[in-house]
Amino acid sequence: MNKAAAPPCRRFLVTGGAGFIGTNFCHVLLEQPATERLVILDALTYAGNRANLAHCLEDRRTLFVHDDIRNLDAITRLLQQEDITCIVHFAAESHVDRSIADPMLFVANNVLGTQSLLEAARTAWQTATSPRRFHHISTDEVFGSLAPGAKPVTEKAPYEPRSPYSASKAAADHLVMAYHHTFGMPVTLSYAANNYGPFQYPEKLIPFFLINALHGRSLPIYGDGLQQRDWIHVHDHCRGILAVLTAGQVGCSYNLPGTGEQTNLAIARQITSILDRRMAADATLRQRYPACPAAAGASCATLLSHISDRPGHDRRYAIDGSLAAAELDFRAVIPFETGLEQTIDWYLEHAGWWQDILKRHGPSRQPWLKNATDR
Ligand SMILES: NC(=O)c1ccc[n+]([C@@H]2O[C@H](COP(=O)([O-])OP(=O)(O)OC[C@H]3O[C@@H](n4cnc5c(N)ncnc54)[C@H](O)[C@@H]3O)[C@@H](O)[C@H]2O)c1
Repeated sequence: MNKAAAPPCRRFLVTGGAGFIGTNFCHVLLEQPATERLVILDALTYAGNRANLAHCLEDRRTLFVHDDIRNLDAITRLLQQEDITCIVHFAAESHVDRSIADPMLFVANNVLGTQSLLEAARTAWQTATSPRRFHHISTDEVFGSLAPGAKPVTEKAPYEPRSPYSASKAAADHLVMAYHHTFGMPVTLSYAANNYGPFQYPEKLIPFFLINALHGRSLPIYGDGLQQRDWIHVHDHCRGILAVLTAGQVGCSYNLPGTGEQTNLAIARQITSILDRRMAADATLRQRYPACPAAAGASCATLLSHISDRPGHDRRYAIDGSLAAAELDFRAVIPFETGLEQTIDWYLEHAGWWQDILKRHGPSRQPWLKNATDR
């Protein structure tokens, strides 16, 4: 995290900064002495949590703006008033299950939202005399489902999105590149693998399984659970984004893979086994979570149950990181097993963080609390 971001990346607008990856990225930006200004823009949807940013907001370089990226005039003014030189665009609806329940929301937010943000940048930067950068956060899901044993895809692979979420991200990517080719917008783009780590909203696979296991609730696995994903720790991902901002070429896209593929079932088993060990070693945890099977000496693995598969569930994603390694000197370094242990410890140590979310968005209003989940 100690590689300083190069110009033009000193005055940042981070969209979606109160969400999972955005929060982690804002923390990293403030560790960079080169960061002069950090404006965090977030609509605070169910996934946005201002409390994530408490530490950032103590830093006088930070300004939090509660607004929607689609508010074109206000965002244009904000870019001008704050003299933003670098936009890092995370804001999106990000949960595949929700995109199946409400595809319109994903198009309105991820596609039209990105379009509006690009338009704001185009207007605000039209008379800029110094370099600017628009970095767009995309996903490996835009490349669609890979066959088992197929080689990980490069940035040149054709798009083949298969869920409303990945289709909306793909459309946003095309708009970003269209603004580069048509209007000369100085863009970069990165495709990340599945992220995990601190501050991830509890609908996503790892916190979802962990919290369910703590409460003795079932761990529902879609289908056979052998869907494969590459996983990147969010701290590695943030380092990768900084590397793109520092050394990436304008107009280029970079894959940011993690440290290895895992099946959903294997992850569920690793979570239960770590939790069994943590509970066995800690009487306070056993008292705090009496419904967890491990509190009574049984294994959390008894909670695993297979349910019918998600419609259109992609079997495998895997991206080739050679370009980022060669051009940016970036490779993810946190081994999945270590990162998972640290993540579980973070959730155990920050129970108040997720309990507050559960209180605000409890099971009656959040069907995801009952269902299996994936990113
Ligand atoms: N989580 C992953 O594994 C992963 C992997 C690859 C790429 N991505 C991409 O990274 C980005 C961030 O993902 P995340 O997991 O942190 O998501 P998240 O759902 O945790 O956070 C999204 C944030 O964006 C905000 N937001 C949503 N719509 C907005 C709008 N119209 N205006 C302003 N703010 C808005 C939300 O309030 C929230 O704070 C997304 O673009 C996602 O597609 C995520």
